[in-house]
Amino acid sequence: MVKLSGKIVWAFSIALTASILVYVWYITLPPEKPKATSNTPVLLDEKVLLPLPRKVSELTVEEAILLRRSIREYTDEPVDLNSLAMILWAAYGITEPKRGFRASPSAGATYPLEIYVVIGERGAKSAEVFLREGVYKYEPHSHTLLLVKEGEYRRELMEAALGQRWVGEAPLSIVICAVFERTTSVYGRRGEVRYVPMEVGHAGQNIYLMATALEYGAVVIGAFYDDQVAKVIDAKLEEKPLYIIPIGVPKSPPKTSFEDIWEYITSRR
Ligand SMILES: Cc1cc2nc3c(=O)[nH]c(=O)nc-3n(C[C@H](O)[C@H](O)[C@H](O)COP(=O)(O)O)c2cc1C
Repeated sequence: MVKLSGKIVWAFSIALTASILVYVWYITLPPEKPKATSNTPVLLDEKVLLPLPRKVSELTVEEAILLRRSIREYTDEPVDLNSLAMILWAAYGITEPKRGFRASPSAGATYPLEIYVVIGERGAKSAEVFLREGVYKYEPHSHTLLLVKEGEYRRELMEAALGQRWVGEAPLSIVICAVFERTTSVYGRRGEVRYVPMEVGHAGQNIYLMATALEYGAVVIGAFYDDQVAKVIDAKLEEKPLYIIPIGVPKSPPKTSFEDIWEYITSRR
């Protein structure tokens, strides 16, 4: 009897210890993070987890180059969040996880650019849910849009861009800023007058090509009052705006074919 109860006590202690260990392991597990594993964005209060980058377009690079045009007339259609995610990734997203290298090249991998998106009312949608209008900032490492401030800022951005109508009419505009110091601290004045302006061109071209591949139209804008644009997007003091890029569905998509180009070239030979 005594022997039996000894065994029971022993078994009971093992079971109790195991249960405690399992419980401790369970409560110390990190909380599950919301995931965007599919092509569905996750809309949270202050941020948007963008759908993960993937192969989406049917166009080849040469077709996108052929069809790229500066587009200034858009339909009323919003920009799909999946497409916006791909356009932002093409501009400055992560393409080499080990070293954090990006879609655009950067002198000494100093990465001076910061990317904002000014989204108008019903300007960006996921399935049938519209994103709140406002100013957002792209965070490449988590591929996330962070809400900077809520509200309709397209008109103010258009006024800052010398009243260029397409800035007010596009469903959204990307604004690329640069923190020059990141590059000039390594390369001095050459960083300011050469490298940073070159880099914004790389990012701008990637935006053009990805937008074209997804059947959107874009135009790069360099004519604007820097201080006014910085104020519209609540840029940090060190972030200097370099490009505004309105994006929307083109009213008349470009239709050039390679045959057109052959005809042009051969008639000049
Ligand atoms: C540095 C730069 C600044 C530009 N600024 C403006 C601008 O302020 N407004 C605008 O409508 N287009 C602007 N553009 C677009 C040009 O007008 C356009 O690239 C040019 O007309 C050639 O047309 P394409 O881009 O369709 O080939 C700019 C382009 C570059 C490269």
